Amino acid sequence: MPTIRIFNQEVYCDRGDNLRMVLLEKKVELYNGAAKVINCQGLGTCGTCAVDIEGAVSEPSAMEQLRAPLLKNRRLACQTSVLGDIRVKKYQGFWGLGKEEKTDKVPV
Ligand code: FES
Repeated sequence: MPTIRIFNQEVYCDRGDNLRMVLLEKKVELYNGAAKVINCQGLGTCGTCAVDIEGAVSEPSAMEQLRAPLLKNRRLACQTSVLGDIRVKKYQGFWGLGKEEKTDKVPV
């Protein structure tokens, strides 16, 4: 059972689970600010679920490859399957592409 470390907490999922769905189900603050209500619901088109990931996950999807120049080497949680233990960092800003990492679940 893979472990996801984010915001100094651990959540667990099954191998192959979609990262966005796991985080939302576990009430982890994946989106920043208005992106909580203004997002594409996991279609891979808005980019607001961008996160930095270390660990075993699926290869970038076609949607991520299209957005690659904008993603700054980050991944779209909605396009990512968890394949093993991972560490996830969420950054500031509407799209989560800021320079400062969010350090807790408080919305920005
Ligand atoms: S939720 Fe829109 S790109 Fe992931």
